[in-house]
Amino acid sequence: MKVLVATEKPFAAAAVNGIRKEIESAGNELVLLEKYTEKSQLLEAVADADALIIRSDKVDAEVLDAAKQLKIVVRAGAGYDNIDLAAATAHDVVAENTPGQNSNAVAELVFGMLVFAVRNFFNGKAGSELMGKKLGILAFGNVGRNVARIAAGFGMDVYAYDAFCPKEAIEAAGVKAVDNQDALFETCDVVSLHIPATPETKQSINASLVGKMKKGGVLVNTARKEVINEQELLKLMEERTDLKYVTDIKPDADADFAKLEGRYFSTPKKMGAQTAEANINAGIAAARQINAFFKDGCTKFKVN
Ligand SMILES: NC(=O)c1ccc[n+]([C@@H]2O[C@H](COP(=O)([O-])OP(=O)(O)OC[C@H]3O[C@@H](n4cnc5c(N)ncnc54)[C@H](O)[C@@H]3O)[C@@H](O)[C@H]2O)c1
Repeated sequence: MKVLVATEKPFAAAAVNGIRKEIESAGNELVLLEKYTEKSQLLEAVADADALIIRSDKVDAEVLDAAKQLKIVVRAGAGYDNIDLAAATAHDVVAENTPGQNSNAVAELVFGMLVFAVRNFFNGKAGSELMGKKLGILAFGNVGRNVARIAAGFGMDVYAYDAFCPKEAIEAAGVKAVDNQDALFETCDVVSLHIPATPETKQSINASLVGKMKKGGVLVNTARKEVINEQELLKLMEERTDLKYVTDIKPDADADFAKLEGRYFSTPKKMGAQTAEANINAGIAAARQINAFFKDGCTKFKVN
């Protein structure tokens, strides 16, 4: 089977080597299309591919029309909004992602930003420590679980709420499960967001919720910008001068958090999954999933 890796922004060399090793050891053939500048290059390369591995590359109906032999497309990463899922289904193409492969990278960034925040962004003034503080994890998925694991090492008192994960599963991980997100914000000194952007969660982190936090509360966002009601949060933080907000997802231009000097930080560009390890893990997972699909018809990570 011919497996095309089509990446406008290529994988690191170590990831490509790992992908090649996986694909070739299963008797499949690897073809690379890296740093392409025109969509026509992708349309040409995909024409005889049986499988496709992408990163943030767009796979729309036109690409799927051109891909006459394609049976599976795998997005090396967690999000898959760059694949037109309905078109993939209509073309009888399985679409998959590689969940969990970048979770540790994101979870480590939570603590990088958190230490930065509680040490007053290294402004020379005494800050505070994380040990003994209450950490609230909003959504106990792949990233949330890694955050809980690391928090234990910091000696934090860890709480979580997840709308779909049973309380028993949260408590089995040594974390206190609370009944709802209000309780999480009321209880915790720090709340870290790990919810996906869904119709229920969009704009759900608003003033009434964050306003429940105790004095000196810190909100950490490595999830999605869409889950925050930015205008409400900004207004709340102007009133509550004790609150801090650190985010991996730069707010919209009209939400001027930068004026909250000393209480706000955003990475200049989304950095959560930007590690060599996450890059390699996601690429190799994509290759393994394709091998399993051709060998056994496995579609465990199908998203369409
Ligand atoms: N900063 C980055 O670079 C980066 C990288 C990877 C993932 N992310 C984001 O991090 C978030 C979590 O990723 P993940 O890999 O842990 O996802 P995941 O799918 O493993 O976990 C999501 C969890 O959210 C829970 N959930 C869904 N709706 C909920 C709701 N309304 N209330 C409470 N819980 C709810 C689910 O039950 C699930 O346990 C996502 O928003 C993802 O887009 C960011």
